[in-house]
Amino acid sequence: MAKERGRPAASTVLWDGVQQLLADAHGAGGADGPLSVVDVGGGTGGLAVRVAALGHRVVVVDPSPDALAALQRRTAEAGLSERVRAVQGDATELAALLPAGGADVLLCHGVLEVVDDPAAALRAAHAVLRPGGRLSVLVAQWPATVLARVLAGQLPQALHALSDAEHRWSGTDPLRRRFDRASAARLAEAAGFTVTAVEGTRTFSDLVPAACAEAEGHAGLLRELEALAARSPELQALAGHLHLHALR
Ligand SMILES: C[S@@+](CC[C@H](N)C(=O)[O-])C[C@H]1O[C@@H](n2cnc3c(N)ncnc32)[C@H](O)[C@@H]1O
Repeated sequence: MAKERGRPAASTVLWDGVQQLLADAHGAGGADGPLSVVDVGGGTGGLAVRVAALGHRVVVVDPSPDALAALQRRTAEAGLSERVRAVQGDATELAALLPAGGADVLLCHGVLEVVDDPAAALRAAHAVLRPGGRLSVLVAQWPATVLARVLAGQLPQALHALSDAEHRWSGTDPLRRRFDRASAARLAEAAGFTVTAVEGTRTFSDLVPAACAEAEGHAGLLRELEALAARSPELQALAGHLHLHALR
């Protein structure tokens, strides 16, 4: 399966969701200036730089020195070094690294799948967000992985992903776990959050044949399909990732 096909359509849905969440954080706080945003596991800063370019202050917390060095190069190139701070650390240590209740928005994308203790990571996120602050969680979904492996003819891996308690496709799967809507929402709620919206991303992008995705006019059609599917509870089960919006 070509991983990059249709990616722009999927990332448009996610970026629209993140911008909505930033707007909601403004509404809840009654402020309209720059928000204080934490991007935990923000890696090389692809999302942090886009958020900072909107005028917000972003702290990226990540354990990888290499990722943080790349982030610093990227922010310097974008002229955003003053708005983006890199902090080396673990998601579960957030409360020791950042002031309690100081953040308006916390982004946690692609992280709960790889940390030792996702429940502890979300409890730490809760501690650094102010009351009324917003949490943005992006997690990989297991049903999409099963489907993708079947379509690729990798039936043993599909069976493993379906039957394994953590929905890994084998012992060498780089992800430690995958989620679905219920398990992701349960985790957020157990940490004290209220889930306010759920969107599916990459519902069709990883499935559409490359030749179809690249055909003239199809990028726009795919964007439209992704945008409509994002909010459909029926199609969300098929999405590669789920984006949860939650309120502290
Ligand atoms: C799949 S990448 C996601 C990067 C970025 N958030 C994104 O959406 O593109 C996972 C990131 O989580 C970071 N990570 C791994 N273990 C972590 C931990 N225990 N606490 C915080 N971040 C962690 C990795 O260094 C990496 O940057």
